[in-house]
Amino acid sequence: AMTTGARYPYRRRLTDAPLLAAATGRRPSHRPVWFMRQAGRSLPEYREIRAGIGMLESCFNPELVCEITMQPVRRHKVDAAILFSDIVVPLKAAGVDLDIVAGTGPVVANPVRTAADVAALPRLRPEEVGAVTEAISLLTTELGGTPLIGFAGAPFTLASYLVEGGPSRNHERTKALMHSDPKVWHALLGALADTTIAFLKAQLHAGVDAIQLFDSWAGALSEADYRTFVLPHSQRVFAEVAEAAVPRIHFGVGTGELLGVMGEAGADVVGVDWRVPLDEAGRRVGPGKGLQGNLDPAVLFAGWPAIEREVRRIAGEADRAVAAGATGHIFNLGHGVLPDTDPAVLTDVVELVHSL
Ligand code: CP3
Repeated sequence: AMTTGARYPYRRRLTDAPLLAAATGRRPSHRPVWFMRQAGRSLPEYREIRAGIGMLESCFNPELVCEITMQPVRRHKVDAAILFSDIVVPLKAAGVDLDIVAGTGPVVANPVRTAADVAALPRLRPEEVGAVTEAISLLTTELGGTPLIGFAGAPFTLASYLVEGGPSRNHERTKALMHSDPKVWHALLGALADTTIAFLKAQLHAGVDAIQLFDSWAGALSEADYRTFVLPHSQRVFAEVAEAAVPRIHFGVGTGELLGVMGEAGADVVGVDWRVPLDEAGRRVGPGKGLQGNLDPAVLFAGWPAIEREVRRIAGEADRAVAAGATGHIFNLGHGVLPDTDPAVLTDVVELVHSL
């Protein structure tokens, strides 16, 4: 513990925070809840403060990052803040020519498809994300007892954006590279893992209390391909940040068939989307890990009786998973808050989860 303290001088001591208790196998004072994409377009105060400012420009403005990160914490009383940023921020910071286009997502000027493209890919140096670490310092003061979750994109999901040049339904160029030239593929994922590790370590040194690795599009892969082409790189990411001794969460969409192998990547908590009930997810992940999820974000449009029924069902399934060996449950959605969600409904869900 002393070495950890010396290496992470900005880490706060939040041992009683429900999120950290649930993630580390201790009994939380109430069931913790936060929402992926809790900061963002569902909030009028977000739309107002972002008016006329680009997404990436916002991500490199420490005061703005701090304010936008705080907005859902103040409004909903969630049990964690998640740093307002994006998975492509470290690539942009390292010098990759890309932008985040509203309504589309990340768009890369020169897609990465050859051995030469991979060799030319820059690695992130920590000083290039100084604006992000400055935002984290502001937040650790502002947040009081609420934990701050840092995050990064996993090597596969980042690779998909770089190889395709933007969002993709079928990931065909990515899968073509993976299968046709495994050597270049592994060089690409190795380079991206280096940047992800550097980005997470910078956040940990600045004082984040937990981290989440977003492998959002891993569900597009078979278990065999995940094991061969992705798992070793995500394993390296989790291993490299283990010494910080903070909870590590691993999330993807449509990963029902991958929950077992994702459990092998090394996280403490596995995020589950709405397609697999949490008691079954616990069996697939195996004992000794926490579970996060898994309300369908579309259910938030169904009216309160349906929402309440679903929240209670999920809590019950999570309790069965915990009785069977999962270390704890963090309530969340199965994917991000949809932009048209009524924020008042999110506040009500937090209150309900806390009462269970
Ligand atoms: O509140 C939070 O969850 C923190 C903020 C956050 C953003 N992006 C802000 C954002 C986080 C954690 C991310 C991660 C991210 N970015 C992921 C992984 C999570 C997931 O959704 O699976 C992915 C795949 C991306 C890439 C990306 N960036 C997409 C697909 C989009 C949406 C494009 C759109 O406009 O619909 C973005 C842009 C983005 N990232 C926005 C926000 C709030 C919207 C841009 C805006 O508000 O102008």
